[in-house]
Amino acid sequence: MSKKKVYIETYGCQMNFSDSEIVAAVMTEHSHETVSDSRDADVVFLNTCSIREHAEQRVLNRLKELQHLRKKKPHLIIGVLGCMAERLKESLLEEQEMGMRIDMVVGPDAYRDLPQLMLDAESGQKAVNIMLSAEETYADITPVRYAANGVSAFISIMRGCENFCAYCVVPFTRGKERSRNPSSIFDEAKNLFEQGFREVTLLGQNVNSYKWDGSGNSPAMTFPGLIGLIAGISPLLRIRFATSHPKDLSDELLRVMAKHPNVCRSVHLPVQSGSSSVLKRMNRKYTRETYMQRIEAIREILPGCGLSTDIITGFCGETEEEFQDTLSLMQWASFDFSYMFKYSERPGTLAAKRMNDDVPEAVKTSRLEKVIKLQQQLSLDSNRRDVGKHFEVLVEGFSKRSKEHVSGRNPENKVVIFPDRGFKPGEYVMVRITGCSSATLKGEALT
Ligand code: 5AD
Ligand code: SF4
Repeated sequence: MSKKKVYIETYGCQMNFSDSEIVAAVMTEHSHETVSDSRDADVVFLNTCSIREHAEQRVLNRLKELQHLRKKKPHLIIGVLGCMAERLKESLLEEQEMGMRIDMVVGPDAYRDLPQLMLDAESGQKAVNIMLSAEETYADITPVRYAANGVSAFISIMRGCENFCAYCVVPFTRGKERSRNPSSIFDEAKNLFEQGFREVTLLGQNVNSYKWDGSGNSPAMTFPGLIGLIAGISPLLRIRFATSHPKDLSDELLRVMAKHPNVCRSVHLPVQSGSSSVLKRMNRKYTRETYMQRIEAIREILPGCGLSTDIITGFCGETEEEFQDTLSLMQWASFDFSYMFKYSERPGTLAAKRMNDDVPEAVKTSRLEKVIKLQQQLSLDSNRRDVGKHFEVLVEGFSKRSKEHVSGRNPENKVVIFPDRGFKPGEYVMVRITGCSSATLKGEALT
């Protein structure tokens, strides 16, 4: 088998970035190498996202662009990996229909098969594996961190989702929920720490449902237990996690976080909507009131904890009154940060099958603009409250704008920029906050 240069481009969520590191590991184990420029590649993999139509459109545009590269390199192999591969299946290989040639289609549970599929594609066969598996966790594969900054890394602790929120395509593209053996997670985190990494983010679609049944070499464990286990590796290793589902963010988890100073004081808790009736249609299994109770528990058990969320505007049937409930909840919760989206109907989901996508595009857009405007104000208010405070910042590297400043994050997950005094990535520095914008805190090192 000839050695190939593989270029991987990743779209979408952190889980996809983590998966791309698995893909890089599988390929390098088979003597291929990864390259950082598509023009040098023999093989281009796009690890794709289906969460909104816009995300898919971006990938399709990029695939079209890559056809030009093929003109210069007739042997180039182009593969679609991840959620779009799983959703669109063999149809991606229909050259006529697509108006372009794609050589490989590989779903998120089939990455072990990539080297073989690449051989098939090379010999001109259709290379498809979109089998979902109820067991695959890639626990035995050590990710190749080809794009990491050497300070923070993602560790995927579970795969799949079975919540079936009415708008969401993920349960269809990523299959059943399954958790990874805690001892393999522990080993991966410990190795990262020994290599100099200082922060790990434990990833899953819904980390609060993490559950190990006690098989293999590990005792039975749920998420709070896992957090305690990983936090014990070293007080110098920061732990973050994403994403939490409000229906099962437990007090037990909040107490474990409070007990371990190296578990970062920040929770990403997607609310989606502030209206109980919309939440019911979304099949989110909590109400405005129970969400508020969760925030109150966070504020009580973890005072000063950073709080971020996801919001969708214009879900099926959303009235002006229901939308106002989202704005008022945002005000009440005073989120530090939000990811905000217009509802995008995804084929096959509960909402696509049973509900009308009846909020006009212009209304979705104007509501999104209102949400963004409010969030900018809330972020600015939140950052202003931090001026004068001291935080421990983990340095990640130079600031994007100036080589005289370094950039890092505080435990609440806010970006902090401050003048460099020879600080190294991975170093902890106490910083006094002296100013801010809505996006970042600015400060001065105290040490
Ligand atoms: N339309 C718009 N936003 C969506 N999300 C998930 N599905 C959709 C959709 N069909 C958002 C949710 C989720 C985040 C990852 O993406 O807010 O939390
Ligand atoms: Fe999608 Fe809901 Fe699962 Fe998140 S919890 S991945 S929004 S179905």
